[in-house]
Amino acid sequence: MITTNHFIYTAQNQIIPAGQSTWSAPSNIALVKYWGKKEDQIPANPSLSFTLNNCKTITTVAYTPVENNGEFQFDFYFENKPKEDFKPKINKFFQRIESYCPYLKNFYFTIHSENTFPHSSGIASSASGMSALAMNVMSLEKVLNPEMTEEFFNQKASFLARLGSGSACRSVKGNVIVWGEHKDFSESSDLFGVQFPFQIHENFKNYQDTILLVDKGEKQVSSTVGHDLMHNHPFAQQRFEQAHVNLSNLKTILETGNLTDFIALAESEALTLHAMMMTSMPYFILMKPNTLQIINKIWEFRNETSIPVCFTLDAGANVHVLYPEQNKTEVLDFIQNQLATFCQNGQFIIDQMGNGAEKL
Ligand code: PMV
Repeated sequence: MITTNHFIYTAQNQIIPAGQSTWSAPSNIALVKYWGKKEDQIPANPSLSFTLNNCKTITTVAYTPVENNGEFQFDFYFENKPKEDFKPKINKFFQRIESYCPYLKNFYFTIHSENTFPHSSGIASSASGMSALAMNVMSLEKVLNPEMTEEFFNQKASFLARLGSGSACRSVKGNVIVWGEHKDFSESSDLFGVQFPFQIHENFKNYQDTILLVDKGEKQVSSTVGHDLMHNHPFAQQRFEQAHVNLSNLKTILETGNLTDFIALAESEALTLHAMMMTSMPYFILMKPNTLQIINKIWEFRNETSIPVCFTLDAGANVHVLYPEQNKTEVLDFIQNQLATFCQNGQFIIDQMGNGAEKL
């Protein structure tokens, strides 16, 4: 079994000339949800996600050797403007990964980042953001240690991204990622995401995800606080066990292409996630009235047309509408005609499964 020691940088080289790298990394949407964690970003249960294609963060990291003054030295720009309020988050990320990347304090970093999706759309940008940053850290490490294999590069990138934001570890590769130890996935790990190792049925090729932007406001409860409330939660243990069972079932569904079972599992997982929030102490609700309007419209449409469209939710009010590629035209018509009205400024983002981070 791979342990954290595997990721400690031990090569001699700690300094190199100035250079830079650019990576794009996508967001991802979980079907079996990660909700609840132990120390050091270890998930309380395994999760499975589809990597997305269009919702991405693009990050350039330029590095220059400097005298190590005991601090992390960097500037951060978001959409070409200095963004001071992001810096504590990045500093914390560097702190968390320092023991695995002891060379970080030998460089001055200039970090430029931008998202392909609308700013403050309520979309979790931490997954794509932390993953893009981790890829760049690994590009630097690769220059320090050119012997590194591609497998190690990706595994450590996922490991580092996890320390930034748990779900970010599922954004390094595509198209279907499992994170967290599970009996049916012998290579699975709590430390990093792995690609779904079995054949995926045609029905799920290029699976579509249209993200309906219901509420772009700041979330009332952050996911950090939400995860924390799973400690001492009355239903936590059962929920964690359920996630194991659901992941076994989802494995079969993805192999056999059973869309009816997929819909039941995906929607139940989404509502269970929010049920955990509603039964936390203190309790909270992240769905908005329009979230429920949309869910009901999807159910109505599915009943009337038998088109296998369903929804999932992340830790917010937005709705991810999931459907097979072959139903794209009808479902996009439905979204435009019947669901867009429940979105802020009628906004939604058309996305689908993707292949993971890319070096630009
Ligand atoms: O990675 P975090 O800490 O933002 O947590 C993400 C939690 C969910 O999006 C609700 C579920 C998941 O597995 O992505």
